[in-house]
Amino acid sequence: MSNKNVQVTLANRPTGWVQESDFKIVETDIPKPAAGQVLVKNLYLSLDPYMRGRMNAGPSYAANVAIGDVMVGRTVGEVVESSNSNFTAGETVAAYLGWQQYALSGGADLQKVDAKAVPLTAYLGAVGMPGLTAWWGLLDIGAPKAGETVVVSAAAGAVGSIVGQIAKLKGCRAVGIAGGKAKCDLVVSEFGFDACVDYKGGNLAKDLRAAAPKGIDIYFENVGGIVLETVVMQLNPFARIPFCGLISQYNEPRPHGLDNFVMLLMNRVKLQGFIISDYAPRSAPAIAELAGWVREGKIKYRETIANSLEDAPRAFIGMLKGENIGKQLVKLF
Ligand SMILES: NC(=O)c1ccc[n+]([C@@H]2O[C@H](COP(=O)([O-])OP(=O)(O)OC[C@H]3O[C@@H](n4cnc5c(N)ncnc54)[C@H](OP(=O)(O)O)[C@@H]3O)[C@@H](O)[C@H]2O)c1
Repeated sequence: MSNKNVQVTLANRPTGWVQESDFKIVETDIPKPAAGQVLVKNLYLSLDPYMRGRMNAGPSYAANVAIGDVMVGRTVGEVVESSNSNFTAGETVAAYLGWQQYALSGGADLQKVDAKAVPLTAYLGAVGMPGLTAWWGLLDIGAPKAGETVVVSAAAGAVGSIVGQIAKLKGCRAVGIAGGKAKCDLVVSEFGFDACVDYKGGNLAKDLRAAAPKGIDIYFENVGGIVLETVVMQLNPFARIPFCGLISQYNEPRPHGLDNFVMLLMNRVKLQGFIISDYAPRSAPAIAELAGWVREGKIKYRETIANSLEDAPRAFIGMLKGENIGKQLVKLF
């Protein structure tokens, strides 16, 4: 083992678009576990849109990253040294250990994961936080019924690609919205959606009406802005909106509002924001079901993997701009 630990810390709070210079790559010594602690070698890091919010100073649902601190992030890795009787070297774990190669943990925050059940990286994607977000948002808030039409934005991404596949498993028509023809083709051919609309194609309203001719019963919202405004005009009475994210707004100093808000009243729409961590205590059955679907090939997933921690800032910015397909990860060794 090399005796250095590469970390990525927050150097500046961005205003508007995040820049690579907002991060700093630092090297520290690998820490030694004290009594009760374990040392984890992080093998993969997940890059997620919520991290953009943690770079801000303003209020949020979770603590922001302080300037100079290691960036927050979920990892999968291996216990390499343990002074905690609940863990032994060689066990694989998932945890929020941040943008770094090695980290200490007291154990309470570590989720033991079985890399023989599904590939280790799936615990950061289809069987991890994004998969759970799709599962809870669609099934708990969306409450889909067979025959309904489910539309999801960012459909080629980590959450969206799973939402559409669960919608299909529940007997719904699944329609994706994604950026570009190549992504839309993949959403249909690989993830099995019934249709996918390219929001960059210039005819979103018309193309969406053609893809969802009976109107929209559930809109799983990942992006906000113009896409949301367009979808709202095509919602059916009593439609549901699991309000998951607003990625088109995260780098905007002046967020876009919703001009046609009144349509939510006219159509008696239920819109509910949710944060996946609220579901954590109840997630074991959801993890088991997602893992089963992955093993049986009922849910497919894609990964875009950056090659080193030094590449993480560039890959993070790329993900916010849509350069990823499926789950954006970083390989740390
Ligand atoms: N509420 C929760 O607890 C929770 C948990 C996880 C994720 N989320 C939210 O879920 C959403 C998706 O997250 P993810 O991890 O699955 O990311 P992702 O979809 O894998 O990656 C982000 C995607 O957003 C799309 N995008 C970027 N800018 C856009 C714009 N201006 N308009 C439309 N689409 C844009 C890009 O796809 P295109 O190329 O198609 O534009 C990009 O690939 C995010 O809003 C995230 O914050 C919420």
